[in-house]
Amino acid sequence: MKAVATVARPITAYQALTPEELFARIEAAKRALGDQVMILGHNYQRDEVIEHADFRGDSLLLAKLASERSERPHIVFCGVHFMAETADILSRSKQTVILPDLAAGCSMADMAAIEQVDQCWESLGRVLSVEESVTPVVYVNSAAVLKAFCGEHGGSTCTSSNAWAVMQWAWARREKILFFPDEHLGRNTANKMGMPREEMIVWDPFQPRGGNSVEAIHKAKLILWKGHCSVHQMFQPAHVDHFRKQYPGIKVIVHPECHETVVDKADLVGSTEFIIKTVSAAPAGTAWAVGTELNLVNRLKREQQDKRVFFLSSTVCQCATMFRIDAPHLCWAMENLADGHVVNQIVVPEDDKAWAKIALDRMMAVS
Ligand code: 13P
Ligand code: SF4
Repeated sequence: MKAVATVARPITAYQALTPEELFARIEAAKRALGDQVMILGHNYQRDEVIEHADFRGDSLLLAKLASERSERPHIVFCGVHFMAETADILSRSKQTVILPDLAAGCSMADMAAIEQVDQCWESLGRVLSVEESVTPVVYVNSAAVLKAFCGEHGGSTCTSSNAWAVMQWAWARREKILFFPDEHLGRNTANKMGMPREEMIVWDPFQPRGGNSVEAIHKAKLILWKGHCSVHQMFQPAHVDHFRKQYPGIKVIVHPECHETVVDKADLVGSTEFIIKTVSAAPAGTAWAVGTELNLVNRLKREQQDKRVFFLSSTVCQCATMFRIDAPHLCWAMENLADGHVVNQIVVPEDDKAWAKIALDRMMAVS
């Protein structure tokens, strides 16, 4: 690393650079930093960003890499805020985690605030002996404080690739699961396990008692938080019908954040990594309609030219927050780091970190 420059470079200096200049400067900063830095890229990132990543993957894979690659002092996380927080929780205390644009959040994660979850827990506690009968399970697409809540109350985190295993673990411990913030991942996973519909209820944080009767709460085995992904809710069952009619024999593969009416009509369902691996390993000449974020699908189309890959929706479904991470922000973060300035560091408060790590460790143990 060079001698520390006195002032961090401003982001405004990067916005007028050409794609070629940005590419060359990011690579130069990467070379200068050598094994001081690891760039992690989520599968939804733009090409101009993902092409610089040392590793790319889904939430689970990136979380594992953050915890395993402790020799790199800096992690530049090209993804969204909750993923960078997870990396900070799982990485060693001396490692820094950088999110190139702090505005890269997740609208689903924002659908459950700790005050609402506390209120829900209290409300359930008026009906049940909650600590003995309910295991809280939080999708990693959530703030660190919610992961800490789960750690403290005997629960776990889960990702789209291990929700099944985590839910089985949770039901083996206590009779009920409170699953948040994505109702669809929870419901789709329970459907696959054969859980009857009457044993699932939806918890609306804006309604007294979540909008449920005392009797329904007693009967429920799965309490699903009313939350969703604004990108995946765009896929409709009619899209699946359209592709099946237009391309007989086509395979439909979707992310489990899609509505159950879409998942039920699909051939395969799984995480972003599962989708990429499945389509990549498929025989040449096969056709695929893919229900997940647009950047991933467009890349699959380009990389799998011996197959026909289609985006499952007729409208553009892009994750606007993932899209915030662009080459100018990556270049800005990398060059500042090479100058000795850590910009946009993600730091989870120590109290939350300890409990959140317990919830993440429980998940890793069953993954
Ligand atoms: P994956 O864990 O499948 O990568 O999904 C993350 C995500 O945010 C999907 O919307
Ligand atoms: Fe969040 Fe949906 Fe974007 Fe995934 S695709 S990061 S769940 S808003």
